[in-house]
Amino acid sequence: MCGIVGAIAQRNVSQILLEGLSRLEYRGYDSAGICCINNQELRCIKTTGKVKNLKEAVKEQGCPGFIGIAHTRWATHGVPSETNAHPHICGNLALVHNGIIENFAELKSQLIEKGYEFKSQTDTEVLVCLIHYHLQTSANLLEAFKIALNEVKGSFGLALIDKNDPNTLYAARSGSPLIIGLGIGENFVASDTLALLPVTRRFIYLEENEIAVLTTDKIDVYTLDGTPVEKSVVESDLDAESISKGNFRHYMQKEIYEQPQSLQNTLLGRLNGDDISLETVVGIDKDTFKDIKAIQIVACGTSYHAGLVGKYWLEELTGIATNVEIASEYRYRKAVVQDNSLFITISQSGETADTLASLRLAKQQKYKKSLCICNVNGSSLVRESDYTLFTKAGAEIGVASTKAFTTQLLSLLLLALLIGRQNNAISDTQNHEILEAVRKLPALAQEFLSYDKEIEDIACQFSGKRHTLFLGRGVMFPIALEGALKLKEISYIHAEGYAAGELKHGPIALIDKEMPVVVVAPDNALIDKLISNIEEVRARGARLYVFSTQDTLIKDDPQTCKVSLPMCPEILQPILFTIPLQLLAYHCAVINGTDVDQPRNLAKSVTVE
Ligand code: F6R
Repeated sequence: MCGIVGAIAQRNVSQILLEGLSRLEYRGYDSAGICCINNQELRCIKTTGKVKNLKEAVKEQGCPGFIGIAHTRWATHGVPSETNAHPHICGNLALVHNGIIENFAELKSQLIEKGYEFKSQTDTEVLVCLIHYHLQTSANLLEAFKIALNEVKGSFGLALIDKNDPNTLYAARSGSPLIIGLGIGENFVASDTLALLPVTRRFIYLEENEIAVLTTDKIDVYTLDGTPVEKSVVESDLDAESISKGNFRHYMQKEIYEQPQSLQNTLLGRLNGDDISLETVVGIDKDTFKDIKAIQIVACGTSYHAGLVGKYWLEELTGIATNVEIASEYRYRKAVVQDNSLFITISQSGETADTLASLRLAKQQKYKKSLCICNVNGSSLVRESDYTLFTKAGAEIGVASTKAFTTQLLSLLLLALLIGRQNNAISDTQNHEILEAVRKLPALAQEFLSYDKEIEDIACQFSGKRHTLFLGRGVMFPIALEGALKLKEISYIHAEGYAAGELKHGPIALIDKEMPVVVVAPDNALIDKLISNIEEVRARGARLYVFSTQDTLIKDDPQTCKVSLPMCPEILQPILFTIPLQLLAYHCAVINGTDVDQPRNLAKSVTVE
């Protein structure tokens, strides 16, 4: 989604802004722009395509200034173009905006009647003109900003500058994340901490409906009605290096390879003999989960798939009925909430608009408590949930979620064990066996990665294919869904995941010699059923790619390509069998020549609905 960077300093800020935009590229965008104040003039440069185009334009044309704002745009209102790119200017003001102004058409007509003219198709240009309009009758820009923001409906993260006041940078947030970075004699604003890591690790998180006024040595925060707010400063544990590609060709590849370490980090300090320490879930005590009678999980995309796996584990290990729903569906229906229900959100970014809206809705419903499983400390979900279980994946830059997913799975397993123990639903022996298995997970993940070359060779056979099916049964069904999502989003090969038992209820009609069918078939309680499904596919001539375990008896024939993966505890299979599917998707994408880390039309953090 769109990215914002703003800076006010006693040095030229244009390189800081451009570097910040580069660090936001992973979020997905289609154009970029920068505006600095120089000699009381607004100097604005915009380009379509990648940030490197903007960097070249700035190098050629120059855009110096001690104060400036910059933006990467992901088109919502109006096509990707230089005219629609941000910043948008009205008179002495320049504005960058993340989010959507829903009543922009109505406001635009009113402003046109008052004589304003518009160049772009964007809602943002309407907002900057609205602020400009109110400035004509207000005591100062802060007043005009507040009045305008109280008139708009929708969501915004904003940074605003005024060429008549080069000593002040304004920012505001409602429904779209925004953080303030604190420097020494300089201050910054951005939509994501990663953008500012080269210049600071100290941040203030703006809450909903807050405005910040930044000078080089002061930050004042107010609510939209003008009440001053005291804010605390949070030190980030990320460093600028956390977003380097190292020796890898793509971030996604690096992040796949980081999984043994990120799984280890997710366990670090959390296992204490046969106990999971209570600090694993921030905010809980030894009785928190004792009365829980139902669990509702809500998430989007890959995080939703993690939730689907979590349902199998939670029901098995806690005996508590668990429901999983896509956030964009949950938020618009009337859910029946059982007494003593726990509401769980899962999100890598902690800023996904639909997931956040579902949490806000849940808080008005009769859930007992809310818990989020999240990778980003300080994110909106974390701040608004009662409890947090942090996945310790580290910064994930590739748009396709990899290490965030496997650490979400591990976190869900730890949570199921914690809840199961508090409810006496799990025996000491079972608990012990699972934790013993969990301790081996990072080493096993490393072993699974060693199949990379074999999988790369298989990926060549997908070249030129248009469609694929991914099959799995039981807890491996959501892994088939995730394998299909990974393949389609980065290689653009159409892929569908199915519960193998559903095959004969429709999808089997698709199968012919041209259709590769990927089967996730580890040795587990359902393997015999799955082998029957494999036979059904084989009988229809499809080429089979079976990801199985070494001892599993899968017929070897020219039609079948079996990847024999290491034997591993059944409870870990969903986590470990994800890895070869990620590698398959990655290599197919590389072979197809797609933009692996920033696939077309996708954004890393989906902050609009
Ligand atoms: C797919 C992917 C997306 C995200 C989804 C939710 O690889 O990354 O499907 O999982 O947009 O994002 P978060 O987890 O940040 O809420």
